[in-house]
Amino acid sequence: MSLAAHERPVERLIRPARNIYGSLRLPGDKSISHRYAMLGAFAEGVSRFTNFSTGADCASTLACMEALGAKVNRIGQNGTETNAIEIIGVGGRVTPATHPLDCGNSGSTMRMMSGLLAAQQGRFTLIGDASLSRRPMERIRKPLEQMGARLTLTEGHAPLTIEGARLTPIDFTTPVPSAQVKTCILLAGLQTAGTTTVHEAIRTRDHSELALRAFGAELARTATSVSITGPQTLHAIEAAVPGDLSSAAFFLCAAAIFPGSNLVLDAVGLNPTRAALLDVLTTLGAKINVLNLEEKHAELVGIVQISAPAEGLSSTAITGAVAAQLIDELPVLAAIGPYTSGGIRIRDAKELRVKESDRIALVVRNLRAMGAEVEEFEDGLDVPGGQSLHGAVIDSGGDHRIAMAFSVAALRAEGETTIRGAESAAISFPEFFELLDLIAER
Ligand code: S3P
Repeated sequence: MSLAAHERPVERLIRPARNIYGSLRLPGDKSISHRYAMLGAFAEGVSRFTNFSTGADCASTLACMEALGAKVNRIGQNGTETNAIEIIGVGGRVTPATHPLDCGNSGSTMRMMSGLLAAQQGRFTLIGDASLSRRPMERIRKPLEQMGARLTLTEGHAPLTIEGARLTPIDFTTPVPSAQVKTCILLAGLQTAGTTTVHEAIRTRDHSELALRAFGAELARTATSVSITGPQTLHAIEAAVPGDLSSAAFFLCAAAIFPGSNLVLDAVGLNPTRAALLDVLTTLGAKINVLNLEEKHAELVGIVQISAPAEGLSSTAITGAVAAQLIDELPVLAAIGPYTSGGIRIRDAKELRVKESDRIALVVRNLRAMGAEVEEFEDGLDVPGGQSLHGAVIDSGGDHRIAMAFSVAALRAEGETTIRGAESAAISFPEFFELLDLIAER
């Protein structure tokens, strides 16, 4: 069996930088691309997207939706816009796949697509790579079975099999904050007669709600719940995907640790349920300007300009709802913790242990490898400030966000750092190392 490009083991050498400077435009947001791909493939008509995510995860979603009968044309360049795709939707009824649907490394693909398939006729098997096959899937089995579908898991994990059924609506409170689980239920509810409601104690990213509305669905929202009354038909849209703020996070954090830095990121997605990072960086002392804020299909997009404070970053504690909303950005924030004066404290982030890797354990191990003092907790970590790091060999654990987080920490370390498993960056951000080289002054 041959390995895909992002699976071939690659080591990257990261040399220290003197400064971070420049301006960039980033590939499309992973969360929004997954949703546009899934909804476009399910809708009636032809959807067209530009600046679609270049990551392997969204390619997994596209491939699964193709296996379910949608047609995907990868156009690439479309006039001045790059990464354009066209999707001819199945109009609400998928073709039962003859092979297992391979979700690769992507939890979003597996969990959200399960909701879509639970209301379809047929039997579907979903598989993933070794990392995805360790991640908890019980959280989608419960609500979907309550609605009347049958899900068979393998000891709580993938491979999983779904037997679709005519569903009944539910009123469900998610036990852990998860936009993927919320979306899974909404996509089942979209196809179910009656009103399905999801309650969440902590508000998670709302891209699904915004995307469903963009595709013509009606939803009712309160501060802590979202309801959908089905069945409803989705209609194709044309959209430009905003730049990925979770990818931008690596460069924003890199800029934040170099007094004298100046970085401008164009057309970044600034959905308020995703933008807590900007508040945290501001609390740490970074100067951030947001310019040209616009709304596109209800998603906010703008230019972000950042420079670091001359006196260096201060300190912060990330706990409660903010920890949940910043879940993807916590590894890089922890990785720059030693370069703050007062440290970074993270709690209420137990979910980090069941992401693409146990991100708490890997951040702790790699910070220690670079000579940092750090204390591990079940639901977070304490990274004291005022520490200097040295270059080391980093074990990314095949986790894209760990590989990129420690590439950022390496920029201010003494000596060179080797990132093992650097190919994993391509899961969300294949251009990461190339763009980092463009903005890192050496
Ligand atoms: C995502 C939601 C988050 C996040 C993941 C993408 C999404 O996962 O960590 O990278 O697009 O909905 P959970 O919803 O499981 O917390």
